[in-house]
Amino acid sequence: MKINEILKWASTQLAESCERPKFEAELLLAYHLDKDRTYLHAFDENEVTELEEYKALVARRANHEPYEYIVGEASFYDIELTVEAGVLIPRPETEILIDLVAEIIEKENIKNIAEIGVGSGAISVVLARKFPELNIIATDICDTPIKVAQENLEKYAVVDRVEIRKSSILDEVSESLELVVSNPPYIADDFELEKNVVAYEPKEALFGGRVGDELLKQIVLDVKAKNIKHLACEMGYDQKEPMTQFFNEIGVESYEFYKDLAGFDRGFVIKLT
Ligand SMILES: C[S@@+](CC[C@H](N)C(=O)[O-])C[C@H]1O[C@@H](n2cnc3c(N)ncnc32)[C@H](O)[C@@H]1O
Repeated sequence: MKINEILKWASTQLAESCERPKFEAELLLAYHLDKDRTYLHAFDENEVTELEEYKALVARRANHEPYEYIVGEASFYDIELTVEAGVLIPRPETEILIDLVAEIIEKENIKNIAEIGVGSGAISVVLARKFPELNIIATDICDTPIKVAQENLEKYAVVDRVEIRKSSILDEVSESLELVVSNPPYIADDFELEKNVVAYEPKEALFGGRVGDELLKQIVLDVKAKNIKHLACEMGYDQKEPMTQFFNEIGVESYEFYKDLAGFDRGFVIKLT
């Protein structure tokens, strides 16, 4: 079959599951042929004979499996992270959290931080690459993120400065820290997510409890109890009000919320001591 015929066929297969079926058909064919997309356009009359594997990739995507799990890689910030089922695919909005944390690290010359819920390692790897003198302890409760994050630390040669520890929140962390960053699970247990998310991404990375903000609030309490000065977290678009009330109840020195690129409330930065 010619490349242009293959792409036509695949676009039809992906029409229901993808917003941009032709683009995704191209991405998967480029991945299958180990070429880039420009090759497909330049040589669209070329014949491809071995198509069974490509058809299997298209079938997975047609069944709503995220592209990143199919190819085992996700673009994030300035890196390509290894990902697999069991690990959250890092989201572009988390890049905003990183930039806010980077500002504090730079301004206060911070050297020791922790990340809660390391996932693929997205936040810790980017911060460790940005700040060559920064040491990070990154926790997670699940084995697959711990394994995959370790692979990504090795891939980007930051393994000597980022230690991954199996721990809930900071329970197993007694070291002195200046800042904590987290993109924790913050979705309410009964919230209806899109099929590609709920069927494939790990529940432990998504759901934060019956209301959704339970883990977020516990993180704030634990960081406060450990006398750590700064905390920056991602949160749900509808959690600004309950979190404001919570900060006022427990008493923090200052807090500020930030929005994502779509204009939704997406997180907060607080000073605790
Ligand atoms: C939303 S994902 C974030 C992953 C990654 N940091 C990112 O931004 O892409 C949340 C992560 O927190 C982990 N997690 C859930 N509950 C936790 C807890 N009590 N303590 C530490 N990690 C937890 C999950 O396993 C998951 O890897």
